[in-house]
Amino acid sequence: MAEFIVLLGPPGAGKGTQASLIAEKLDLKHISSGNIFRENIDNRTELGLRAQAYTEHGQLVPDDITIAMVEARLIQADCFKGAVLDGFPRTVAQAKALDKMLTKNKNRVQCATFINVPEAVLVERLSGRWTCATEEHVYHLTFNPPRQPGICDIDGSSLHQRVDDQKETVERRINEYTQKTAPLIQFYQEESLLYEVDGTKPIGQVTTEIMDTFEKTRLKSGRKKYLQV
Ligand code: AP5
Repeated sequence: MAEFIVLLGPPGAGKGTQASLIAEKLDLKHISSGNIFRENIDNRTELGLRAQAYTEHGQLVPDDITIAMVEARLIQADCFKGAVLDGFPRTVAQAKALDKMLTKNKNRVQCATFINVPEAVLVERLSGRWTCATEEHVYHLTFNPPRQPGICDIDGSSLHQRVDDQKETVERRINEYTQKTAPLIQFYQEESLLYEVDGTKPIGQVTTEIMDTFEKTRLKSGRKKYLQV
């Protein structure tokens, strides 16, 4: 069975940072709905043109567009072993659609980890975030600076700030999260798949805690530990 892991949390909680580290550790694909939207917007595809106004105003893209996009991505060969899902699902309708698409291939979500960070910390994180132009590797001016200012450590491309990281848009994104995404915590709790980590700790420590939650889910389901695979 493939592994599908969901990372939940408000904007700036560290979903992208952790998804990239964890996907590498577990040799899974990192799938970020936000990155797919931004790539399509940059390439001016039809999907990008439909999503642009929503993302730039800090609103969720409608479920039908988002679900179709993620489903098309998850059936590609590089996701056969599974994926770390960052930013999807973001509504209960998306979570139900995800269950349905995974069930088609006898797969399911193994674990939903909620990265808990209080609202006061989020704005500071997002206003100091810089991402790279090619693969969206994530940095922070203070908390996770690149070795060379303005240059990605991993692929050497230039770093830029996201258009939706302006203060007013961030506040709208947090509001969207509270209204539409936070209910997923209860959804996954009821499915007995929810784990919570303290996202205010240093990046490496959060990674360790998330890895521990995966080990717990594996032990619970009688599978081998990740690190022994
Ligand atoms: P998306 O790109 O998913 O944005 P988001 O959820 O708002 O999350 P972010 O990427 O802003 O934050 P993050 O949690 O990944 O934090 P990061 O690791 O970067 O979505 C963008 C837009 O696309 C949405 O607004 C919506 O319009 C649309 N969209 C996407 N998915 C959708 C869906 N499913 N349905 C509908 N619409 C959708 O970290 C933030 C900063 O903090 C970085 O600078 C990082 O270096 C730093 N940092 C991380 N961890 C720590 C730590 N432990 N300590 C200190 N600093 C840290």
